[in-house]
Amino acid sequence: MALIAPSLLAADFLKLQAECEMVNNSAADWLHLDVMDGMFVPNISFGPMVIEFVRKVVNKPCDVHLMIEQPARYAEQFKNAGADHLTIHIEACPMLHQDITQIKALGMKAGVAVNPHTPVSLLSDILHEVSIVNLMSVNPGFGGQKFIAYTLEKIKQLKQMIRERNLDVLIEIDGGVTIENAKEIIDAGADVLVAGSTVFRATDPIAAVEKLKSL
Ligand code: DX5
Ligand code: ZN
Repeated sequence: MALIAPSLLAADFLKLQAECEMVNNSAADWLHLDVMDGMFVPNISFGPMVIEFVRKVVNKPCDVHLMIEQPARYAEQFKNAGADHLTIHIEACPMLHQDITQIKALGMKAGVAVNPHTPVSLLSDILHEVSIVNLMSVNPGFGGQKFIAYTLEKIKQLKQMIRERNLDVLIEIDGGVTIENAKEIIDAGADVLVAGSTVFRATDPIAAVEKLKSL
């Protein structure tokens, strides 16, 4: 059974409180929050101010995914906004070790994310420092994209690296997760499924979470 993290990006922002309450009332394990700066990715979403409001309503861990350049500049702001996990992109961080150390020193769980084309072997020397690896299964920037099938192979490779070294690291799959492909993703070794459209665009979002959870 995988952990389920609905992504707020696909929510109705006019009804943010109700959407957060839906997450509280569902079997979701975390709330996933996608921060985009229009530089690292083409899209702009929301920042710490919105997360601070969301945090007042949501009673589950807030899993913040930063798709921004030089993310360490904002680590403290996201901590103050209520982030429980802070995930940063390997492609955005030349000083990744330093940035991960900073996130942990602030009292958050640290995650590292990799784009679909970035090999998991590049995580070798940082893996023991993080709690979460976010394997992007779409090119980051937008919700509602199609799952890139070859990332299944990356899940298997990463799972093996984690097992061989007996590490306590969760593999999170982000992008294009549906009711139809979730089982295959879990079987490949995913521990956490991020689901935006599949949850928030469903006619019954609570049932959608339940369904993902049951696979
Ligand atoms: C994409 C984001 C994802 C996105 C997933 O850049 O990182 O978290 O919200 O959305 P779906 O599940 O709709 O692909
Ligand atoms: Zn994300």
